[in-house]
Amino acid sequence: MLVDTHAHLQWGSFDKDREKVISRAREVGVECIVNIGFNLKGSRDAVELAKKHKGLYATVGIHPHNASQFNEKVLNNLKKLCENPRVVAIGEIGLDYYRNLSPRGAQKKTFETQLSLAKQLALPVVIHDRDAHADTLEILSKFKGEITGVMHCFSGSREMAEQCIKSDFYISFTGSITFPNSHKLREIARWIDLNKILLETDSPWLAPQEMRGKRNEPAFLPFIAKKIADLKEISMDKLAAATTENARKIFRLPHLS
Ligand code: NI
Repeated sequence: MLVDTHAHLQWGSFDKDREKVISRAREVGVECIVNIGFNLKGSRDAVELAKKHKGLYATVGIHPHNASQFNEKVLNNLKKLCENPRVVAIGEIGLDYYRNLSPRGAQKKTFETQLSLAKQLALPVVIHDRDAHADTLEILSKFKGEITGVMHCFSGSREMAEQCIKSDFYISFTGSITFPNSHKLREIARWIDLNKILLETDSPWLAPQEMRGKRNEPAFLPFIAKKIADLKEISMDKLAAATTENARKIFRLPHLS
């Protein structure tokens, strides 16, 4: 059994076949999917999906792209959504200096306010960091020892991974680990402790090499798992058991067997 710790099945590109996508995932052993919020509507939709399907969970949060839409009212709405027991984290939150779709000042403020929310509610966080490693670490360091979570689609250095692990964060890998030029990332996956690794598709984006160019979906997670098992020279069973246990721990999921 595998857990897809980061998907966006609430996204419009799944409107026509969402139910089939969920059953295809189950057929290949991906029995648990965490759908990640990116704005208020996306967060609400993730919660609604989780309410409807066994094995589905949700996170709620405002993505750095949408930071300029963040305000007190949005914050209160997120807080309200967290009352649902199927909400397992605040996310995805963080900084994106690659696309800069919201001003950096707004991104930082939105990130910090949501970290405070996570602290207040004792929930883990799902971090989006693209080309913003230094500022992400600096802001996270203000909450050291008070917040744990997941470095989603990790793209930093080995030193950064070490620092995140020291702060009790998990390192999550997407299909980008299967891309031909991702040598650095594969080095990190080889080196990192199995007890700190999570698997994710980031569906509908980042389809693994075998499916490159297609809409990604949780049923493609085994390609990522296989790549990491090969890198670590362990069996798929061992990798699946460890990463499922890691997901269960960080998101406090009910016992998964
Ligand atoms: Ni995402």
